[in-house]
Amino acid sequence: MYTLGIETSCDETSASVVNNRRLLSCVTFSSLNEHKRYGGIIPEIASRRHLSVIGRIVEQAVSGAGIGFRDLKLVSVTQGPGLSGSLLTGVSFAKSLAYSLSLPFIGVNHLYAHLFNSFINKGIIDFPFVGLIVSGGHSEIYLVKDFDRIDTLASTRDDAAGEALDKVGRFYGVGFPGGPAIDRLFNERIVNENLFRMKRLKGLGFSFSGIKTKAVYLYKQLVEKKALSSSKRTEILSSFQYAVVDSLIYNLTESLKKTKIKKAVLGGGVAANSLLRRRVLALRRKGVSVRVPPLRFCQDNAAGTAGLGEYLYKKGYSSGFDIPVLCRVN
Ligand code: KG4
Ligand code: ZN
Repeated sequence: MYTLGIETSCDETSASVVNNRRLLSCVTFSSLNEHKRYGGIIPEIASRRHLSVIGRIVEQAVSGAGIGFRDLKLVSVTQGPGLSGSLLTGVSFAKSLAYSLSLPFIGVNHLYAHLFNSFINKGIIDFPFVGLIVSGGHSEIYLVKDFDRIDTLASTRDDAAGEALDKVGRFYGVGFPGGPAIDRLFNERIVNENLFRMKRLKGLGFSFSGIKTKAVYLYKQLVEKKALSSSKRTEILSSFQYAVVDSLIYNLTESLKKTKIKKAVLGGGVAANSLLRRRVLALRRKGVSVRVPPLRFCQDNAAGTAGLGEYLYKKGYSSGFDIPVLCRVN
């Protein structure tokens, strides 16, 4: 069944058509370059950009799938979490389109759609599995019994992993977003695994504010002593990435142990991180069946939105035209 997905939770305007989980098209525009000089996403700019490009992006996705609007059977859209103005643009557009074509319509959770990206063009692994979502706004571990039965096993107590990388990166002047820039530095292989030692929290969960503050102090100390060389900067940022990923892997491993589940699925923008991918894939050596999304599906995109909407619709779900946007979901 041809399903159109629309995703506008943050700075990407994305539309995709899937048919029984097979990807027919995915067109994504990002306004990231327009935010770079502010060092973070400016919601007002993001929503205005969505409004100006969404029509064109949706048209390209439908024609790129080799079909017409009349062939669509369902419209799926990101309902949240995300920026309110950004979400409102996508949800309003999706509602209007579904209404005018007399199509069923469904709003889906953006974080669950990140997980679904690992199932596009592939089979869905048997439930239950443990899902690790790491993005600019979220660090979550889920027990996924099915896509309509998801329990949260661990969350962040302060910053999300991507947010911590972006903030520290900005401090050290690597530009925005810091995550990919720090990942490139990491591959220069100057890492001190003990520089950002993190106390394990009682129970499951993430907290990155302690090591973030330490990174800022180190910066100030080194600048005062005029000792912040380029290799020192690389060492600090690489060690910071090492500590963030180590905490993610620790929590994932503990969650797998606690639930006695041997299946893990990774998702979210930080799933593009080379070290995180390597360490999650290494769990296969411990007998864990692992799914890591292709790099092009790590960044926000509508393929997972379309796929998840189609999946839930087939299970009997749909949304009314009165659904709100949900900036926070939980
Ligand atoms: O999922 P996403 O595209 O947007 C949100 O929903 O937040 O994630 C964006 C986040 C940013 O924090 C960015 O720094 C991070 O993903 N990111 C990375 C890498 N590529 C993107 N973090 C670490 N390593 C990367 N290679
Ligand atoms: Zn996202």
